[in-house]
Amino acid sequence: MRPLILVANWKMNKTIREAIDYAHRLKELLSRYDGVEVILASPFTTLRSLDEVLRGSRISLAAQNIHWEDSGPYTGEISALQVREAGCRYVLIGHSERRQHFGEGYDQVNRKIHAAIRSQLYPVVCLGETQIEREAYRTLNILGEQISKGLAGIRPEGIDKLLIAYEPVWAIGTGQTVTPKQASETHQFIRQRLSDLFGPSTAAFVKVLYGGSITSENVSPFVAEPQVDGLLVGGASLDFEEFSEIVKCTALRRS
Ligand code: PGA
Repeated sequence: MRPLILVANWKMNKTIREAIDYAHRLKELLSRYDGVEVILASPFTTLRSLDEVLRGSRISLAAQNIHWEDSGPYTGEISALQVREAGCRYVLIGHSERRQHFGEGYDQVNRKIHAAIRSQLYPVVCLGETQIEREAYRTLNILGEQISKGLAGIRPEGIDKLLIAYEPVWAIGTGQTVTPKQASETHQFIRQRLSDLFGPSTAAFVKVLYGGSITSENVSPFVAEPQVDGLLVGGASLDFEEFSEIVKCTALRRS
């Protein structure tokens, strides 16, 4: 059975000292549980130090964002190559908070995915519908559009390194979730779209994660769904004790 992936998205939280302390504890925890891989999406300032702590463990680092160019006059931005050099294997792209607060549209998301693949970073591409889109029964149309526009021009050999995170916008940080069965059905749809665009054998490599208000209380039935390859956890990943419960529940479900 494939190991499940847990992405901890710390967003704009944690100092370097806090991040290092957490990483030491997580490394020790993961040495006791098989069947789970953890990706820490940690703030830029912490990456270099965390890379040193996590070397040789089953915990990888993700950047929370990159620019779409490889270098240049973009004050305040950071490139794929720079975060890779700092120790990242992954990068989150298209998170709804970036779409909402920083105006990222399809074009930027697409260019960032290209930039990641160019620099051998694995993109974790976030998709999801808003409440209004869901109420208008447009969820699958929106997800289909996010996939075809976000992945435009990507060659099949870039796709097998891809992770997709299905994160309904209305479920992020709200305490609401889809049901595990709905997550599974939606993941099936995402896989089918990928298969239509890139062929079934390529699509089979893509891991599809669910994200939105996952906690230690609700995690178990999600990870029991065969279509759920893992989870993207925001708020509940900030507290080590809470996240370690999520790791344990995930490991138990798959062992
Ligand atoms: P949440 O965040 O777990 O706090 O809902 C998920 C996310 O933003 O990816």
